[in-house]
Amino acid sequence: MAFIHRRGLMLGAAGLGLASLVRPASAQAPAAPTGPFTLPQLGYAFDKNEAAIDARTMELHWRFHHQAYVTGLNAAVAGQDALARMPLDELVMGINQAPEALRTRLRNFGGGHANHSMFWEIMGGAGGEAAGNVKAAIDRDLGGFGEFKNRFNAAAMSVFGSGWAFVTVTREGRLAIVTKPNQDSPLMDGQRVLMGNDVWEHAYYLRYQNRRAEYVGKWWDVLDWAKIGTRFDAGVAGTLKV
Ligand SMILES: [Fe+2]
Repeated sequence: MAFIHRRGLMLGAAGLGLASLVRPASAQAPAAPTGPFTLPQLGYAFDKNEAAIDARTMELHWRFHHQAYVTGLNAAVAGQDALARMPLDELVMGINQAPEALRTRLRNFGGGHANHSMFWEIMGGAGGEAAGNVKAAIDRDLGGFGEFKNRFNAAAMSVFGSGWAFVTVTREGRLAIVTKPNQDSPLMDGQRVLMGNDVWEHAYYLRYQNRRAEYVGKWWDVLDWAKIGTRFDAGVAGTLKV
């Protein structure tokens, strides 16, 4: 499984360039829809998270993996005007009301777009500890920062195969740790996401290979607690999106 993931990741990167070289323009397939969803900017350089994630992984993960979710989502909503107009969080939250024939693609690609958009936002920092309102909530609901890290890391390690560990936040500022398989999101259960870690092998394989625990442990060193604090306040205010 590990080899397949890595091989797919590398071929995906190389294949794009090759296809454009060997395929005559006249034979090209119709262009994939380019909207309404778009790849968000990272907001920092690929090497900003080097303390935990190498620059090459950051670039491949963002440029190809995340883009594939965006492209897949745009293809899924093509010709579906109501879905195409929805904000991403509402689309993902309403997954079970979407046309059944589209639901699997919306779940995988919409969830993937939402999850990764959150993931880039909460990194690019220098780690350390939570402060302010989010610290108080962690102390109250998750046993303090050290206990929180232990519980979250255990959750991330418990994900079988590909998936995510998240912290959810309610309008009352209550926090909980949840895991999801594949690209599922707590948004699909009507919960808002404070933060989360991607434990798909594509997130860590180049540097860590099968050593997920090492990646999960290092990931804390690149979190941006100011950003997470802002997300917490937005969660309480009801303005937190994806
Ligand atoms: Fe990912």
